[in-house]
Amino acid sequence: MKILILNGPNLNLLGVREKAVYGSRSFEDYFDELKEAFPGLELTYFQSNTEGTLIDKLHEVGFSYKGIVLNAGAYTHTSVALSDAIKAIDTPVIEVHISNVYKREAFRHKSMLAPYCDGVIVGFGLESYRLALQYFERLKPKQIGFNM
Ligand code: DQA
Repeated sequence: MKILILNGPNLNLLGVREKAVYGSRSFEDYFDELKEAFPGLELTYFQSNTEGTLIDKLHEVGFSYKGIVLNAGAYTHTSVALSDAIKAIDTPVIEVHISNVYKREAFRHKSMLAPYCDGVIVGFGLESYRLALQYFERLKPKQIGFNM
């Protein structure tokens, strides 16, 4: 069961960037832990700071993978193009955020992507990704895409 974790802009700086908000661990380090925790899932990880590259990746996997866990960073709040890409693909997407965006600036309260995602997980630190993977792990492949 192939699952992509897709991180957007500035998330390559996890562990370095605003540690009080995003923690002191790199995503690569956490990803190793996720791979061990979910041996039944075929996990891949991709990060880009570029909107078009994120869209290309959604197109590339979005008709064959079973799930996508997407943290689009600031593009979450602005990108019509990413929301169109999620709408265009077959693979279900879960939107995740490390920080609780609802405790932060008002411009972070709006998601352009959430209406086209199966669900949204916000504010559990890096564990937001684990919770999203649990959703995909628990659903039998044929149930993927079923809106709970
Ligand atoms: C974020 C929240 C966004 O508002 C912000 O632009 C990010 C990270 C999060 O994971 O908490 O880059 O998506």
